[in-house]
Amino acid sequence: TAALFDRGSLSGKRVFITAGPTREALDPVRYISNHSSGKMGYALAEAAVDAGAKVTLISGPVNLTAPQRCERIMVESAEQMLAAALEHIDECDIFIASAAVADFRPVAVAEHKLKKGTEEIMELRLVKNPDIVASVAARQNKPFTVGFAAETRDVVHYAQDKLSRKNLDLIIANDVSRSDIGFNSDDNAVTVVSHDDVQQLPLSSKRQLAAKLIEIIAAHQES
Ligand code: CTP
Ligand code: CA
Repeated sequence: TAALFDRGSLSGKRVFITAGPTREALDPVRYISNHSSGKMGYALAEAAVDAGAKVTLISGPVNLTAPQRCERIMVESAEQMLAAALEHIDECDIFIASAAVADFRPVAVAEHKLKKGTEEIMELRLVKNPDIVASVAARQNKPFTVGFAAETRDVVHYAQDKLSRKNLDLIIANDVSRSDIGFNSDDNAVTVVSHDDVQQLPLSSKRQLAAKLIEIIAAHQES
């Protein structure tokens, strides 16, 4: 019977997947975030489990339940997501960064609710968040590292730039200017960019796409 459970393309592999948005607190009741639904990351987690992997989802706040047989760590901020990612990184074979991490966070989190005051203009100071996938890929024993790239133009060009700048093994690029797909949609069309290849995947459900992407990732990390 062991053979029944031993046939997936990621059999025995440990896969970490970041998913969803992050929330960057401004005060006890307010935050900066984005519209990421987490659907693509959760679909990838499910597909990786189906391929035989031991999967840990590191998830920002989303309205999704964890796939079966998948460990899930819930976080809010980018800093918490980074800490969760690095905690067991030495056990990780494949790292997939699908989270829409906020690029900046407020310089300081006010202890008490900010008051509206009398000024018509309010200025907010932001500081850059750590880059989670680049931090993972900078490690000496780095896992096979896959990033996403959300772009509105020059998709392949920017994806190739992110691939080399962040020391990634694969980039899954999204054209977020298309109105038929994107952050909250159930469908997606992506371009997979590696160091020596560009592959377009046609519009399909995030579930179908996830299965295909997991097969591509498995094939790349084998070679
Ligand atoms: N990413 C990350 N940590 C960050 C920012 C991004 O891990 N602080 C990851 C995302 O999960 C994604 C990849 O980096 O896999 C690319 O994210 P994207 O927002 O497209 O790229 P950025 O490097 O943030 O550049 P920009 O937003 O300026 O295009
Ligand atoms: Ca960004």
